[in-house]
Amino acid sequence: MLPKVNVILLFAFLVRDSDHMSLRIDPASLPNFLTSSQVFKVKEQERVVLPCEVTNPGQYVLAWKKGIAVLSAGSVKVSPDPRVQLINGFNLEIRDVVPQDAGDYVCQIGTLEPREITHTLEVLVPPRITYVPPNGRVDAKKGSEVKLECHANGNPPPKIIWSRKNNLLPGGDQTAVTSVLSLDRVDRHQAGIYVCTASNGVGEDASKAIVLHVLYAPEISVENPVVHTAEGFEAELVCIVHGENPPTVTWYHETVRMDSTEQRLMESKGTRHKLIIQKVHRTDFGNYTCLADNKLGRTRRTILLTGTPKAVTFKSASTGNYRHTYNLSWEVESFTPIEDYELLYRRIPHSLSEYDHVQPIHHQSLKNFGLAENRSYSAVGYSISYGYGKRWFMDWRNVTVRAPRGFSTSSKIQTMSHVIRGLESGQQYEATVKARNKYGWGPLSKTFTFQTTDRDMGFDDMRHYYEKNEPNTLEDFFGFGSASKTSNFLFFTIFLPLSSLTRTF
Ligand SMILES: *[C@@H]1O[C@H](CO)[C@@H](O)[C@H](O)[C@H]1NC(C)=O
Ligand SMILES: *[C@@H]1O[C@H](CO)[C@@H](O)[C@H](O)[C@H]1NC(C)=O
Ligand SMILES: *[C@@H]1O[C@H](CO)[C@@H](O)[C@H](O)[C@H]1NC(C)=O
Ligand SMILES: *[C@@H]1O[C@H](CO)[C@@H](O)[C@H](O)[C@H]1NC(C)=O
Repeated sequence: MLPKVNVILLFAFLVRDSDHMSLRIDPASLPNFLTSSQVFKVKEQERVVLPCEVTNPGQYVLAWKKGIAVLSAGSVKVSPDPRVQLINGFNLEIRDVVPQDAGDYVCQIGTLEPREITHTLEVLVPPRITYVPPNGRVDAKKGSEVKLECHANGNPPPKIIWSRKNNLLPGGDQTAVTSVLSLDRVDRHQAGIYVCTASNGVGEDASKAIVLHVLYAPEISVENPVVHTAEGFEAELVCIVHGENPPTVTWYHETVRMDSTEQRLMESKGTRHKLIIQKVHRTDFGNYTCLADNKLGRTRRTILLTGTPKAVTFKSASTGNYRHTYNLSWEVESFTPIEDYELLYRRIPHSLSEYDHVQPIHHQSLKNFGLAENRSYSAVGYSISYGYGKRWFMDWRNVTVRAPRGFSTSSKIQTMSHVIRGLESGQQYEATVKARNKYGWGPLSKTFTFQTTDRDMGFDDMRHYYEKNEPNTLEDFFGFGSASKTSNFLFFTIFLPLSSLTRTF
């Protein structure tokens, strides 16, 4: 049906044109467009009217075309599409616009040299998301790179915006405009709900959520890597276990797998896994391991249950009141009475060039203590060391300090002080202490730095203290306490009788 109409029309044009060939054409009598070419932007499903007004059309035929398709000729509608019709003359109406209607519409006057105008129809289409990962879910192994993809169409082409539910994007931004969101080396902190939003200003934005699961071998942290206790007390060992699909957690004492008994309770609340030993027995001391398993692997952490004391913390002021003595005080937590302490101290070298070998300040170096001579003495409550001039400073002093007896176990905190004598005035020293109870030695403390004063107090250091309490030191006897700072003098200590002193000389 349609091709036939076209042929007839064409024929009609030709006939008319050949008529005119023989006529003289008056250009003023030719029809002219009152409408100019325009762009129409219309939302899907709306109606649009493409105008085509012409002056004196006379007998010329006006036709609407879209590409090669003729939509109308004269007042005859050719297009079979019921949504298309001519209204008020030659204006072309399209109802219920669909995306396929977009394109160029030509209104042509069938003069010898056809005149035409072209309207462009743009159909605005709200965004629609065409692709997100299947099932809205992405599983990724920890440490891998993840690309979250989202595609959408619409007209104009929509922007793709990524955001995250109740969180910032891993880069720290609120949103990112990109169709592919790349995440480097994912870990459990990046797991969660990501939202892809497509927006082009037409209609409503479209959005879809994607859940990112990060799969990883269990991760364990421990509340206390060392748990201090004593026989008869209750002890609590805690492992915090994270894992996709809650991992199974088992406990080992040394190499033996543990079962829940009345004495040993295992509890799990969320990520907290607890082993409670109700009444610690001597055989309970040692290393405990919590072992967590899931599909991606197995992780373990060890907790030491011990009766030994904790690390000592220092309590004295960092600057002393005296030039040659310093009262070092500290406290320590232990479930049983402290028996003794090992105190190590030295003057901090001024510079690397001061000595041919220098022990680093950090207490890890304390294993290098190989003192050639035994230069320490100990006494209850305080002890005194002596040295040989400059060499004095090269090594750490090692003093054993007995703890006072009759300590009450009501408090786990035990305090102690020790007077160090024979120091130089205005110098910096460092000290470290460890404590021992009936179960053994605790760890060495952090290094504590203190300083002797260089102000002349007008009396010998702590003389009042010794006068009142204990035998005097040698420097008190000879009154050369303050001379020591220049010097190669020996300082001798409290309990050395004079006779032994002369022998040493
Ligand atoms: C516990 O484990 C540590 C580290 O492996 C080890 O040095 C220590 O000797 C163990 N302690 C006991 C009591 O087995
Ligand atoms: C050292 O300091 C401790 C604690 O501050 C104090 O109890 C003790 O009496 C002091 N000793 C001397 C000799 O001043
Ligand atoms: C300190 O002296 C004690 C007793 O003489 C000794 O057992 C200990 O190993 C010494 N410590 C260091 C770090 O040299
Ligand atoms: C070192 O001192 C200790 C006492 O603290 C003593 O038992 C030991 O015999 C001394 N060693 C030397 C080599 O003088």
